[in-house]
Parts: sequence; C-alpha cells; structure tokens
Amino acid sequence: MNFQFTEEQLMIQQTAKEFAEAEIAPTSVERDKKGEFPTEIVKKLADLGFMGMMVSPEYDGAGMDTISYVLAMIEISKVDASVGVIMSVNNSLVNYGLEKWGSDHIKNNFLKPLARGEKLGAFALSEPEAGSDATQQRTYAEKDGSHWVINGIKNWITNGQSADYYIVITQTDPELRHKGITAFMVEKGTPGFEHGVKEDKLGIRSSDTCSLTFTNCRVPEENVIWEVGKGFNFAMNTLNGGRYGIASQAVGIAQASLDASLKYAKERKAFGTEIANHQAIQFKLADMAMKVEAAKLLTLQAAGLKDAGLPYVKEAAMAKLYSSKVSVECALEAIQIHGGYGYVREYLVERYLRDAKITEIYEGTSEIQRIVIARELLKN
Ligand code: CAA
Repeated sequence: MNFQFTEEQLMIQQTAKEFAEAEIAPTSVERDKKGEFPTEIVKKLADLGFMGMMVSPEYDGAGMDTISYVLAMIEISKVDASVGVIMSVNNSLVNYGLEKWGSDHIKNNFLKPLARGEKLGAFALSEPEAGSDATQQRTYAEKDGSHWVINGIKNWITNGQSADYYIVITQTDPELRHKGITAFMVEKGTPGFEHGVKEDKLGIRSSDTCSLTFTNCRVPEENVIWEVGKGFNFAMNTLNGGRYGIASQAVGIAQASLDASLKYAKERKAFGTEIANHQAIQFKLADMAMKVEAAKLLTLQAAGLKDAGLPYVKEAAMAKLYSSKVSVECALEAIQIHGGYGYVREYLVERYLRDAKITEIYEGTSEIQRIVIARELLKN
C-alpha cells in the first residue's frame, strides 16, 4: 500500500498538529484534573470541519478521506486523548452510520447539524448486562401508533452528558434475538430521557461518560435508523468503521509517550551522561519507535482499504487490537524511562497510561477484536 500522502492529507495533518498544540495543550492538564468537558475546543474543531470530516459536502460534511481522518486523529490524540475520543465518536460511531444507513429525514435533520459540528452525537449500545455480548439488549422499544416508546438503561456512553443526538440501540422483538434489535435517533430533552452523573474515570477524564435512562420515552417512527430489526447489523457495521478511530487515538497516545521519552532521555543525566547514552534506555526507545510505526501502518492500511472501497473489517480490528496494546506498552515504558518523575502528575506520561488503558476496552475489547479477526480469517 502506498503511503505517500497527498498535499491535502499533509495539510490536514499539519492543521491538526498546530491546532492541538495551540488550542488544546494549554488546558489539557487542568481539564484532566477537573474532569472538565472541552466545550470551546469542540466548537473550534467544528470550525475546522473536524467533527464531520468524512461526511460528504451534500450533508454539510468536509468530504475528507479516511486517511486524513486518521492523520488528524493521531495529532489531536497525541496532545489530548479525551478530545480524540469526542471527535472519534462523532465522526466514526455517529456520522458514519447515519450517512450510510440513515433515511433522508435522519440525514437532513440529524446528520447535517452533526457534520457541521453544531450538534454533538453519542452512540448508546452498552448496557449494565450487555457489554461484549451486545445481542443481550434489555432496553426495550414498543410501537404505539406513530411512535415508539423506549424503556431501559444504557451505560458507559461517551459524550453522554454533552451530546444533543443519541443513537440508541433497543430490543423490539426479544424472540428474534439480534434480528429483533432496532436503532433509533433520540434527541436530548425528549420527555422520559435523562442522563446520569458523570463517571469518575481513571483516564480520558475530560470526555464525559455516563448512563442514560429511558422511561416511557416517545420517539417518532421516522427516527428509526435503517429499518426495524436492523439495529444489531447497524451497530456491528458502525463499530467496524469506528475501530480505525480508536486505533488512531491509541497511536496518538503511543507517539506522545515516545516523544516525551526521547526528550527526557536527552535531558536527564545519570552515571555522568544523558540517559539516552545508556543502551538500556536506547533499547526501550527503539522498541517503542518500532511499535508506534507498526501500529500507525496497520491503522493507515485499514483506512486506505476503506477509502479504496475494499474490505477492511479484519484490518480495522487488527489495527485497534495492536495499537491499543502498543499504546499501553509505550506509556508504561515512558513511565519507566522517567523513573519517579513518571509517576507524578508533573510529567504527562502518567496520564498517557491512564488514557491508553481504555483503548483496550471500549468500542470492542481486545478479546472481541480477536473474535472479529478470527471469524474473518475462517470465513473462506
Ligand atoms: N460486522 C458486520 N456484521 C457482523 C459483525 C461484524 N464485525 N459481527 C457480527 N455481525 C453480524 C452477523 O453477520 C449477523 O448478522 P446476520 O444474521 O444478518 O448474518 C449478526 O451480526 C449476529 O452475528 P453473531 O450471531 O455472530 O453475533 P454474536 O452474538 O456472536 O456477537 C460480536 C458478535 C462480534 C461478539 C458482537 O456482539 C460484538 O461486536 N460485541 C462487542 C460490542 C462492542 O463493541 N461494544 C462497544 C460499545 S460502543 C463504545 O464503546 C462506544 C463508546 O462510547 C466509545
């Protein structure tokens, strides 16, 4: 695969890098400490077209390719993985599926403002008893005239408090297992729909995660996404598309760990010389650099296949599985290189580890990625 980036892709990468350093970095430490959502930053990302990167201009998106999205996601997540996941959920888990499977009503009324970044989206699949085993949906929607009435609880929802539009996956016919699952668009403020308190998380603390409660929440029938009974297929296909987003976030964190380690190793002295001159440190840096590069290439490969209209499910799962593993490994090595300084908040590397861990859990755990990869391998 050819990774000679076009001028446009390089320009988007540079724009993301400059934006992240100038607009995101100055507040990232404070927001992480306070668990504060980056409202103003998300507005500015929207001005850059980064909240609807791959949506076509017909639906008010920026019409960029997946490679550009990956490059931008890496640059943003290098500086702040919380901002990375907010951007990733809106682009990959919300916009992507709505453009591909949404009706004209959904595209005109929900996708357009989401792609412009005026509204923020969330994807509500997980439940207290349906995480990896996503067919076990308890949230139930029942038809009542021209509306559906939703009851149930969702949890671990990224952008849960700050979103305006929510994709909500529900059970509509339990006897049909996954073919009795339906996806809906639900607007914030719909009577019977409430969000819970913000989770006090280990990492990505500046993004908000919470539960959602539906109590006789009435949603018009035109808010069904794709069609009744297609909700599980919708969720699976959307998650296929989401994986290169989280893979990019993980690559960004891993790259940040490497960059911080290189800088520190050239400054810190021990045994009469900079620690970068010790082979023990050099070997760590070499391994980190190799892993970051491999993770980036896998992620770009998945994106390139998608842009070419070729199958990318296995490759996206591999990219997510490998990049998230590398992200945790590089963050741990960065702490080791920094010694005691790596263990305190004064240096950023402790946050990299806290932020990295979730990439092995959300949008399909590492165990789920292995299932997806193995199934694709055994298909033929
Ligand atoms: N792509 C497309 N379709 C798929 C698919 C995939 N990767 N995996 C399964 N399907 C389809 C199957 O083809 C089948 O459809 P048909 O009947 O139409 O052929 C249907 O789904 C059911 O398939 P299975 O019976 O094989 O499904 P399963 O019960 O064995 O589960 C699974 C498959 C892959 C384990 C699935 O449950 C899964 O992906 N679980 C993980 C869920 C997940 O990723 N949750 C993350 C929550 S989102 C999040 O984290 C967002 C956030 O806020 C950051």
